[in-house]
Amino acid sequence: MQILYTTNDVRTHVAKAKKAGKLIGFVPTMGYLHRGHISLVEESKRHTGYQVMSIFVNRIQFNDANDFNNYPKDLERDFDLARDAGVDLVFVPDEKEMYRNNLTFVDVDVLTKNLCGAHRPGHFRGVFTVVSKLFNIVQPDAAVFGQKDIQQAVSIEKMTADLDFPVRIILAPTVREEDGLAMSSRNKHLNPDERIRALAISRALRKAEEMLSSDERSAAAITAEMTRIIEESSPTKIDYISIVRYGDLDFIDTISEKSVIAAAVFYGATRLIDNMIVETDAGGARCVY
Ligand code: PAJ
Repeated sequence: MQILYTTNDVRTHVAKAKKAGKLIGFVPTMGYLHRGHISLVEESKRHTGYQVMSIFVNRIQFNDANDFNNYPKDLERDFDLARDAGVDLVFVPDEKEMYRNNLTFVDVDVLTKNLCGAHRPGHFRGVFTVVSKLFNIVQPDAAVFGQKDIQQAVSIEKMTADLDFPVRIILAPTVREEDGLAMSSRNKHLNPDERIRALAISRALRKAEEMLSSDERSAAAITAEMTRIIEESSPTKIDYISIVRYGDLDFIDTISEKSVIAAAVFYGATRLIDNMIVETDAGGARCVY
């Protein structure tokens, strides 16, 4: 596995792989890898023959300086996990390599209005800017993003189409701990009590699934029940529990087409997000979470 630090080196190695006839798969990350990240590499391997991963804690997407400063890091462990997963090239730029007096930023309108976009000013602009730069550096054929960050994935798909990046965007399902908690690098910050209370989020999603299977379609009824379950766990703060249309991530009153049920909840200083995609067909509802 190549570990590279500069744009030039990445371009040289990727060009060589392309010349050898390989399709390039790309998984951008901020490191502190877990099985969720690894599942994206596995998905990428199903479509491409040369795997690139980036590890870069992107300061400009953090709207909270403490969150940035405390973001967990363990590069040596990340390299071992990436190597075991079959990554061919890891790109680990430093801040100077990525940003030199950067004056250009990428934003995606409308799709970032609700959910996390409403609570983390500037966050998505930072994400889209770094992902655009990484796409131009790596020049992958396909890039894989996790459903766990559904607003990020949906918006990046739109950005890719709007800006004509020749990259196929692939969405991979959320990987969970055995007890249901969505895997996240930030879970490390939860103390044992918060870790147990945080299970209320996935429990609330399961309740929503149950209600949908008994033909409940009212967004207000479902979010009320989810709020009740999450409030029982004494969260520090609920940012949102929302139901939106998948296509434009705008709020809906009734679930009658492909939708997303999403929540963002703080336990202590740790902000956790989770979601479920609802596919409706012939009266039924299929939930993916
Ligand atoms: P990070 O949080 O490290 O996540 C990297 C990728 O892993 C994202 O596509 C995310 O959705 C996915 N992921 C995280 N947890 C997951 C889980 N439990 N199951 C499946 N996939 C999961 O997202 C970012 O970094 C950054 O915003 C980035 C895109 C790298 C830009 O800086």
